[in-house]
Parts: sequence; C-alpha cells; structure tokens
Amino acid sequence: MKRIAVLTSGGDAPGMNAAVRAVVRKGLYEGMEVYGINYGYAGLVAGDIRKLTRRDVGDKISRGGTFLYSARYPEFATEEGQLRGIEQLKKFGIEGLVVIGGDGSYRGGLALAKHGYPTIGLPGTIDNDIPGTDYCIGFDTAINTVLDSVDKIRDTATSHVRTFIVEVMGRNAGDIALWTGVAGGAEQIIIPEKEFNMEEVASTIQKGRERGKKHSIIILAEGVMNGNDFAEKLSEYGDHHARVTVLGHVQRGGSPTARDRVLASIFGAKAVDLLKEGKGGLGLGIIGSKIVENDFEDLLQNQKHMPDVSLYKLNQEISY
Ligand code: F6P
Repeated sequence: MKRIAVLTSGGDAPGMNAAVRAVVRKGLYEGMEVYGINYGYAGLVAGDIRKLTRRDVGDKISRGGTFLYSARYPEFATEEGQLRGIEQLKKFGIEGLVVIGGDGSYRGGLALAKHGYPTIGLPGTIDNDIPGTDYCIGFDTAINTVLDSVDKIRDTATSHVRTFIVEVMGRNAGDIALWTGVAGGAEQIIIPEKEFNMEEVASTIQKGRERGKKHSIIILAEGVMNGNDFAEKLSEYGDHHARVTVLGHVQRGGSPTARDRVLASIFGAKAVDLLKEGKGGLGLGIIGSKIVENDFEDLLQNQKHMPDVSLYKLNQEISY
C-alpha cells in the first residue's frame, strides 16, 4: 500500500492530533504518502483532501481539538454517501484509510470495509464508549479536566455547606461520571448503567449533613437527565438548595494528557502497520496493557461497551 489517508470524525477528543501525527509520521517512515481529509466524512464526500508532510504535523502533539477538523455527517450512513466517498478516495489514489472517532465514525469505517475498502478505526471519544477497548483517546484528558472543576466546586460547596450537582458528558455512558466521581470524592454518582432512587439520594445527603458533612457533591452523567431537572426532582424530597454546574464542552478541549498522547501515538502507528499488511475492517483497542484488533462488524453488532461499574460500588463504600 503506497498511499493512505486519515480523518477525524464525530465529537472531537484531546489526542486526536497526536493520533493523526502518528499516522502521518509512521506512514512516511514506511515510505507511504499520507493524505489528510478535512471535516471527517463530510470532507471525504466533498473531496476536501490534501497531502500531508512531516511539517504539517509538527507542533500538533500537544494541541487539543483536531487540526483536520471534525463533523457529524449522518448522510454517510446512506449507500449513496458511501459510494461518493469511495469515488473521492479512488480519485486521489488512496488505498487505505484511518478513521479516528466514536461510534458513528466506526459505522462509516465498517461501511467502507464492506465496500472492500481497507479501513482501520482508532477509538477517539471523551465518552469512552467504544466497545472492544478499555480506553479511548481523549477520555483521560476529559476526566482530568472534570476533576479540576470538581475540586474547585468542593471548595465553595464546603464554604457554604451546599449540595452541588455536577452534570458531566457521556451521552449514553457513565465512564466520565464514574471516574471523576471516585477521583473527586463525590458523595454520589448517577449513571445510566445503574438505577437510582431520588428518595435515597436525598436521604444520603441528609444523613451526611447529620454526621457533620459540609458539602455534598453529586456527579450526574448527562445520559440520565440534565442537571436542572435532577435538581428539581431532588427538591421534591427536601429543601436542598442544590446548585447545578453543567461542565459542557469544556470537557472536550485542552491539551491532551501524556496518557492520551501515548495511546494515540501507539494506535496511530499500529494502524499504519495493519494497512501496510493489507488489513482493514478493524478497530483498535487496548485491553489491560495489550493492543488488540477487533473486527468492525463484530464490534458494532455483538459487543457492547460497559464502564467499570465496580467503581460505583467502591464509591458507595468509601465516599458516602
Ligand atoms: O463526543 C461525545 C459528546 O461529547 C457527548 O458526550 C455529548 O453528548 C455530545 O458529544 C455533544 O455533541 P455536540 O458537540 O455535537 O453537541
């Protein structure tokens, strides 16, 4: 394989630039030409494609966001969109593709693979909700960003003896809430994967107060409900005067942590190795400390992401 391309798609994640850099540098190292596709699948279909040099990826490893830009492009779910994308790849003589993104990006990759186009997926989403991997690029940075805010909220919560509801991202997954809840010493974690009972939430806050606790921090995954609705429902069980902080897109930005940069670099280089061997239709992952290759179809059809819910129980045992 002589010419490959790389794109980033869906919600951006810190470390995507580091992954693109690794694909470009490793590709050039292997004697390939590497092209960058702007704006994910939308740019692919539009032919927004350019050749990347070593220098194009210089000074990028520490930057958040994605210098290739990203887009959500549901049109790529259609056969017509896919064929137009393949037409562009052929026009540029591109023989293999690396897609960096979340669930939707992987679906696009699977479609291309089914059309016989070698495609490798790298899991990149702060939600950490791609099956077949313990960690996705961007998750570590996002949880550290959240943690920084939780620590600050704790200061003011204690000063005023208040309850805070901190709404964090994770469209359908509780990973961010679980990790930041445990790391931030939150009294309660509310995630889509675990049922909760508002009466119990209220009584836990009350019992804490009676024991002399000066604050109560509840980390709420957005996939359950939004923070304001949660506060309103909580108020039906007592006068908690809860304050709500919605961290929002701040969680998606920032310079990637060392862990995200290293993971992105390993995944990027490995994707090039696989394309060089003529392989495609695979999504990379890390299980324990081992880099694994998962079949796209199996991943999307048979595997389901599950966060480490043992953290939920741990939190109940140590942070009440
Ligand atoms: O990238 C994942 C994610 O950040 C989710 O956690 C969130 O629900 C969603 O993207 C927000 O998407 P958008 O940036 O398109 O509003």
